[in-house]
Amino acid sequence: MKMFAVFGNPIKHSKSPIIHQLFAQQTGVLQNYRKIYVPINNFYKKFFYFFKNGGIGANITIPFKKRAYKLCDILTKRAKYSGVVNTIKILNSKKILGDNTDGVGLLKDLQNLKFINTKSNILLIGAGGAAQGIIYPLIKFGCNITIINRTYQNTKKIIKFFKNIKNINSLKEEDLFSISNKFKYNLIINATSSSIKGNIPNIPSSIIKPDVFCYDLFYNFNNTPFLKWCIIHGAKRISDGIGMLIEQAAYSFYLWHGIMPNTKIIIKKYKKYN
Ligand SMILES: NC(=O)c1ccc[n+]([C@@H]2O[C@H](COP(=O)([O-])OP(=O)(O)OC[C@H]3O[C@@H](n4cnc5c(N)ncnc54)[C@H](OP(=O)(O)O)[C@@H]3O)[C@@H](O)[C@H]2O)c1
Repeated sequence: MKMFAVFGNPIKHSKSPIIHQLFAQQTGVLQNYRKIYVPINNFYKKFFYFFKNGGIGANITIPFKKRAYKLCDILTKRAKYSGVVNTIKILNSKKILGDNTDGVGLLKDLQNLKFINTKSNILLIGAGGAAQGIIYPLIKFGCNITIINRTYQNTKKIIKFFKNIKNINSLKEEDLFSISNKFKYNLIINATSSSIKGNIPNIPSSIIKPDVFCYDLFYNFNNTPFLKWCIIHGAKRISDGIGMLIEQAAYSFYLWHGIMPNTKIIIKKYKKYN
């Protein structure tokens, strides 16, 4: 049976194996997809071990997406433009193909939810692999993005990477607090991993308004800590990242098998499981 895996740290919370099982059932594709916990300094060792022992594709998650980008022989256009890789496929030539399906998956979910339009002014919280991976498709769609992150140094690295792209800028956390009344965002995206440990990013509550869409890339059985905080401060339209997870997984599945699963059915089914 064809072997696939998701590599990450932490990885226990990942729902990717369930999603891929549902895709396999729906399409009749036989595949074995599992979670692999990777100690922080062991990514390359674990990665090559898996592929030397029959693995033919993988998803890469927190915090290894930038490292995965570096070891690819060939990149899809969207991986090249984002600088991070969340999907790997071993080609017949044994070359490593890297793709990024996070951005296109998020955009599809935001469109399904009607959370976005081509003029959306977005506050993107976070500057890790997921944040970097979603910027290019959102800018290409027409949106403006302001990045804010706990460590400003990491924000600067992203801004440097996208230096040739317009409509992207950054703020220090303290600047957003001191002049928050000046800013009006249509959509606030939490792309930090803060929710995993029950924390919330440091942003002023004054930017949350009833007409602002609030989206957390993280997903949970209940609302994530960030989404609970948004509701307390007046948000009416919120979503966690389960839809994105399913959409990005579908693009990975398509890269591996050439078949696009019906995501609408899976999203409905998955939400019922919860
Ligand atoms: N729904 C989906 O399909 C999907 C897809 C991809 C990722 N995700 C989720 O997105 C999140 C980020 O993943 P990633 O791959 O970008 O991880 P990553 O590369 O490790 O980046 C982590 C980011 O979170 C910030 N952060 C961590 N703890 C924080 C805290 N307590 N307060 C404020 N900021 C904090 C980090 O800030 P510093 O720079 O200051 O360290 C960094 O910006 C994870 O929760 C992951 O599960 C979901």
